[in-house]
Amino acid sequence: KRVAVLISGSGTNLQALIDHTTEQNSNSSAEIVLVISNKPNVQGLTRAEKAGIATKVISHKDYKSRDDFDEALHASLTSAGIDIVCLAGFMRILTGGFVSKWHGKMLNIHPSLLPSFKGHNAHEQVIKANVRISGCTVHFVAEEVDGGAIIVQESVPVYHGDTEETLAERVKKVEHTAFPKALELVASEKALLNSDAFISWR
Ligand code: GRF
Repeated sequence: KRVAVLISGSGTNLQALIDHTTEQNSNSSAEIVLVISNKPNVQGLTRAEKAGIATKVISHKDYKSRDDFDEALHASLTSAGIDIVCLAGFMRILTGGFVSKWHGKMLNIHPSLLPSFKGHNAHEQVIKANVRISGCTVHFVAEEVDGGAIIVQESVPVYHGDTEETLAERVKKVEHTAFPKALELVASEKALLNSDAFISWR
């Protein structure tokens, strides 16, 4: 399957996906052929270039509306023949129209155990709630933000004295195994999305 990864920043998850899909003997069903960033000059773009993957910057600032931005995104993805889209630290909310075009074909990673702690400040919420377990979730993207069917989750402990930074670092380690695992399940069609809420497992 031809995969595009959408990023906005450092791209450590992108790196984990690149490493997994290019590993010798990995027999991956996924090939990353395009990386799109909504921000120029981010480290993720350098990672893609180093791996010989085509990159594109589509800045949201160049578009009048979310619809226009999403249309440009969709045009780039379809002209590259993309089958699966991975959101890896992509910090833009996508319109319902865009999400429905990629139904069952778009994955996101979120740094908490969903459905708890949705939103952009998950680690802060986790620490404030004093829970002792957190983790990450890879899910299909549905119109409700952080609300789609769950493909893979991994947990980590939350320690007394953790800060957002120390927790984020621990969670990222498991993100880097969870995301490749989830991509593989979707690319090999072992996990197929039926409705927004349900996956058929094969
Ligand atoms: C990750 O923590 C991911 O869960 C969140 O944004 C972060 C991206 O990190 N959505 P990176 O750019 O992959 O290093």
